[in-house]
Amino acid sequence: MRPDSPTMAAPAESLRRRKTGYSDPEPESPPAPGRGPAGSPAHLHTGTFWLTRIVLLKALAFVYFVAFLVAFHQNKQLIGDRGLLPCRVFLKNFQQYFQDRTSWEVFSYMPTILWLMDWSDMNSNLDLLALLGLGISSFVLITGCANMLLMAALWGLYMSLVNVGHVWYSFGWESQLLETGFLGIFLCPLWTLSRLPQHTPTSRIVLWGFRWLIFRIMLGAGLIKIRGDRCWRDLTCMDFHYETQPMPNPVAYYLHHSPWWFHRFETLSNHFIELLVPFFLFLGRRACIIHGVLQILFQAVLIVSGNLSFLNWLTMVPSLACFDDATLGFLFPSGPGSLKDRVLQMQRDIRGARPEPRFGSVVRRAANVSLGVLLAWLSVPVVLNLLSSRQVMNTHFNSLHIVNTYGAFGSITKERAEVILQGTASSNASAPDAMWEDYEFKCKPGDPSRRPCLISPYHYRLDWLMWFAAFQTYEHNDWIIHLAGKLLASDAEALSLLAHNPFAGRPPPRWVRGEHYRYKFSRPGGRHAAEGKWWVRKRIGAYFPPLSLEELRPYFRDRGWPLPGPL
Ligand SMILES: *[C@@H]1O[C@H](CO)[C@@H](O)[C@H](O)[C@H]1NC(C)=O
Repeated sequence: MRPDSPTMAAPAESLRRRKTGYSDPEPESPPAPGRGPAGSPAHLHTGTFWLTRIVLLKALAFVYFVAFLVAFHQNKQLIGDRGLLPCRVFLKNFQQYFQDRTSWEVFSYMPTILWLMDWSDMNSNLDLLALLGLGISSFVLITGCANMLLMAALWGLYMSLVNVGHVWYSFGWESQLLETGFLGIFLCPLWTLSRLPQHTPTSRIVLWGFRWLIFRIMLGAGLIKIRGDRCWRDLTCMDFHYETQPMPNPVAYYLHHSPWWFHRFETLSNHFIELLVPFFLFLGRRACIIHGVLQILFQAVLIVSGNLSFLNWLTMVPSLACFDDATLGFLFPSGPGSLKDRVLQMQRDIRGARPEPRFGSVVRRAANVSLGVLLAWLSVPVVLNLLSSRQVMNTHFNSLHIVNTYGAFGSITKERAEVILQGTASSNASAPDAMWEDYEFKCKPGDPSRRPCLISPYHYRLDWLMWFAAFQTYEHNDWIIHLAGKLLASDAEALSLLAHNPFAGRPPPRWVRGEHYRYKFSRPGGRHAAEGKWWVRKRIGAYFPPLSLEELRPYFRDRGWPLPGPL
């Protein structure tokens, strides 16, 4: 068996040099592919990345699939023709603001395919983009092969949605998906659809692009914590996080009640993974593999302990670039004619002959080098930001979201607040006998007896923004008033974003109001838990006053929102 060569994670240059000095002699007569010299199943050699590309593409396609699925299910209600923040209004305002610019300039400020489409039926446009994305991503997910055109299409489609998605798409993971997806384009051959495109070995530059991405993500997240909140320095953040995170799940309920020393341990491990482990990337093949394994385990723990949409699944993707064919071989079945077998054969062929440089390969190399230069150039502001004591998080520095800065949970909220929407059929909202009934959201805490949800990697965008709204006011979030208006009209589209409508099968409510509550987990074994309650809640006060459809008319007109219901 060939010994592992030590620093295979080194950049392309040193690898090429090492390959010429390869001392291992070729066997006299090459053994049958898939078998070692002694006839035992052969192991793949280190330092090639054919299988890595397949795994990377499938993982990326999975995340794209989830993202387009969320878009398909929720875009119409959020940004469609009658959405809570219609993207047509947004595009029109944007156009008006830049009316003295050329259309190319407007496009480059906010690149989206929607500029080229007919705006009279925005719902169909949004559905079309999401369905195309679903189709392409499922193809890549199932087959494990893709070309640059398909990957560029996925990227363009998702960017078209993110850029018109307003606050609903303002999360760091949207930019992170676009950046990961952009790198994914360069993983593939231009045109060939093959899992093992013989003339296009996986580019080292792209692999380093992925490693550089995960380095920035983790270090950014680690530094923002140390700088952002004292509880990360005195190791108390995890005492709060499980309860106050945006969408707790049932596991978080139990983790929240772990002993204090366990929370200290968690916080320390978090710092270790985010601040130290990223440097393993640069310490050679073995350290890079350890980095990959640790990061993927860390993300798995985060998935189990909270509903952070597809963020953690996405963050696993760039770490895969640490694993070469020898590491990933176990994922693939062996046997004659199998992928593994063919990779082994290709590893032998490459070592045997020095292929004539093909024109395509030269162009390819030039393209990859240009990509490397572009990434390096775009990384300058990102590195400056990481080094700055006034680090910002989750920012993109260009409209294409290519090289961004990340960071998560820089500060931890210590108390959980919730906005609860209520309606009443009473004609007098201030009458003491008016009965107010709660609307339930799909995932966010509401009814204290309802078990926390478990939805990762899926994501409810409205629920997530309700979490932010709870520590701001309704004036910062006028979409919540739009939602209230739609509830007053029992608008079916808006109600599809919710889990329970107390007025189902009845006339719509006369009044809708928002109430502000403090939420805490109940204590396992305590009185509330015995009553089946996961949460204990206490009213803080009004979030927005009782509203009727009639009153909302001018508010809607000012904002260019279509009037709901029979107005
Ligand atoms: C509504 O109820 C409040 C409190 O009982 C009362 O003061 C007010 O006059 C009522 N308004 C109408 C229009 O009946």
